[in-house]
Amino acid sequence: MTSLATIYRPYFPVGAAVEPETLTTQGSLLVSQVNSVVAENAMKWECIHPSSGSGPAAYDFRRADTIVEFASRHGWSVRGHNLVWHQQCPSWVFQEGAGSASRERVLGRMREHIAALLVHFRGSVYCWDVVNEALSERAGSWRVDSPWFRAAGAEVDGTGVPEYVLRAFQYARAADPSVQLFYNDYRIESGDKLRGALELVRALRSKGLIDGVGIQGHWTIFEPDPEDVRHAIVSFASLGVKVQITELDLSVFRSGDSASLPALPSELERRQAKQYGALFKVFREEAQAGRLSGVTFWGIADDHTWLDDYPVKGRKDWPLLFDTAQRPKSAYGTVTQW
Ligand code: XIL
Repeated sequence: MTSLATIYRPYFPVGAAVEPETLTTQGSLLVSQVNSVVAENAMKWECIHPSSGSGPAAYDFRRADTIVEFASRHGWSVRGHNLVWHQQCPSWVFQEGAGSASRERVLGRMREHIAALLVHFRGSVYCWDVVNEALSERAGSWRVDSPWFRAAGAEVDGTGVPEYVLRAFQYARAADPSVQLFYNDYRIESGDKLRGALELVRALRSKGLIDGVGIQGHWTIFEPDPEDVRHAIVSFASLGVKVQITELDLSVFRSGDSASLPALPSELERRQAKQYGALFKVFREEAQAGRLSGVTFWGIADDHTWLDDYPVKGRKDWPLLFDTAQRPKSAYGTVTQW
């Protein structure tokens, strides 16, 4: 079997999200196919900084370090995911005694957390998703139900950017001026969310605080139109930032569909192959034009995918290029032969 990483070397690094466990259960497939990696959960706040406090005892770097060490043994680059997100962040971050922590206290904790991670992973993680999913799906709006927004959501500089977003990028820049800073989000390839993301990137870019945008790429075999994805890549790149696809997987279920299937029907496998093929054609063309610099899958094979529990708990999905036995699916063919 040919290697994705080798075939795509002229275009971009090919990555996968991993857990320490999947380095074992999917290790040989990963070693043969990717040259970049991201922690599916191990660098998120609740995993790496579960207890309150800022001293070394408050952090638990073991799971993340396992991934970084494996990556370094295999010469892979490592993306950092993520520093500030409304999910998988412990409630102590936003509390003080029985009440809510002050804006200053929450921002202080954020600054310490960001500095601790950037120092710990300095030189081994080349970029960070500094803020994940700050935009709401509602037209042109911030995610106001985020505890970060509640604590420090007001703008402070007239650009409309919530303070917590601005500070996260400032703290990260200060902690390690050499690491690349990304904004990462889903459904930013079209519509109001694209417009909102472009405004955010423009504002951060004018302050020199952002280097790249991650388009997550949690899509389906039915949408989006690959030309919409191209348009988004071109639009972000025109602002002078790097663009990556950071969490690629194509569910075989339409958005909103809660039905389940006993196995992957061949017709859907064909459709998936077609959609993956069309997307990678756009990715190659945009990479050649200097506008796309990385593609990371959210997993590698269908035996381990978060979509088995999202959006329908316990429903099997088949979103990746390799099947549950880690053999190449039809989509592997359309991605590797053109
Ligand atoms: C998901 C993980 O894959 C799951 O294991 C975890 O239970 C929830 O988070 N957008 C992101 C990722 O930015 O961090 C999410 O990862 C998937 C959606």
